[in-house]
Amino acid sequence: MSTPDPRPRAQYGAAAYAGMKGKLPTPFPRTMGPNAMKYLQEVVESGLSSNMMGRFERTFAEEMGVQHCVATPGCTPALALLAAAFGFAPGDEIIVSPITDYGTIQGLIRENYIPVFPDTAPGTVNMSADTIAPCITDRTRAILAVHLTGLVCDMDPIRALAEQHGLIVYEDVCQAVFGSYKGRLAGTLGLAAGYSFDSEKTLGSDVGGCIITDDDALAERLRFVGHSRGAVMEPVFGRKHAVPGYALRMPLCTAAITLAQLEIIREQVLQRDRMARLLTAHLQEIPGIVPLPIPDYVDVYSCWMFGLSLEPGAFRCDADAFAAQMVEAGIPGAGTGRYYLMPAACTFLEENARAGRYPYSRPTASREYHYSADTCPTAKEFLEHFIRWSTFCEKYQPEHCELAAEMIRDIADRNRV
Ligand SMILES: Cc1ncc(COP(=O)(O)O)c(C=O)c1O
Repeated sequence: MSTPDPRPRAQYGAAAYAGMKGKLPTPFPRTMGPNAMKYLQEVVESGLSSNMMGRFERTFAEEMGVQHCVATPGCTPALALLAAAFGFAPGDEIIVSPITDYGTIQGLIRENYIPVFPDTAPGTVNMSADTIAPCITDRTRAILAVHLTGLVCDMDPIRALAEQHGLIVYEDVCQAVFGSYKGRLAGTLGLAAGYSFDSEKTLGSDVGGCIITDDDALAERLRFVGHSRGAVMEPVFGRKHAVPGYALRMPLCTAAITLAQLEIIREQVLQRDRMARLLTAHLQEIPGIVPLPIPDYVDVYSCWMFGLSLEPGAFRCDADAFAAQMVEAGIPGAGTGRYYLMPAACTFLEENARAGRYPYSRPTASREYHYSADTCPTAKEFLEHFIRWSTFCEKYQPEHCELAAEMIRDIADRNRV
């Protein structure tokens, strides 16, 4: 057993928001769907025999307009399950957005796939077909697109590129639930998509998530590997584990709460879209402040966290000091998001690649890999000037957008060169 790391452990969910107070609303306590208690009660009164998970799956699939939903205890497991179900070979490469949460890539690593991070497109947090294209090799098998903050990636060119190379495209929709791209819902733009219903997410229930897909064979495989532990029933003998499966069913109580939250989510997402656009309009008026651009192809911005950039050279202070002043002024949770840059944050990747540890040994890997902030220079530079707050939520009203803009204007004026 190695000696414990003296640094504090990272916090997730509601714990990450503890003590965040200011002059603007925060997501906690979450607004609960009016039927949450009723559905929870059904679970309890059924003596745990209710099919609440199945009910949630059917309802979510219907809402998304797809054939299948497979519920999981989070998006990290959802994407891990997808990685397992795809059944690629160790050392195969998956192209994945460089600015994201660790949960996006955890499953790839566990399957011994190699994550390859393209750079982001200039001026935004997402990768694009142009940044992905140079990363494609003969070992590439799939592209995993993350819609960061809720801004959907420009998916049509990404899909066209993938088609040219025979690659699977799938989505991490954790931050963009019910967001929409050219009239189509995020999550329906590839072969499959993973969702998070973590309490802090837009569709906040508890530690929960799911996968959606229209592909019958993939859905069956996901249930077999993810819910049935890869086991088949053999006469007389019983369960035989044909593949190393998982036990990743969504808990019934989480299904009950998520079902209730689903009944109020559409209006909440529209409110986030309205308020994010209003706040964007206010901030565009402030010299030196550049809110995250909302592309025209995003019809509904299911904004999970709000973000802005400081124009380089416009202020005497750096983004960290600016963000600290935002917190002091009353914007809870404002901060820079450098830790989202996975090639820099996942230090074990560079260590393993450098040491040639499996799957970075040849074979299985076909070439050398490197992971650091410098492998994604555009993303690195962007994050140097980027500030976001994940306390942005559906509780925002126009007066909160005005207040936030006023606070930011004051800070900008105080720090302008
Ligand atoms: C983009 C993204 N992907 C994956 C995850 C992991 O989701 P979960 O916490 O449900 O496992 C998150 C959660 O923060 C996320 O924001």
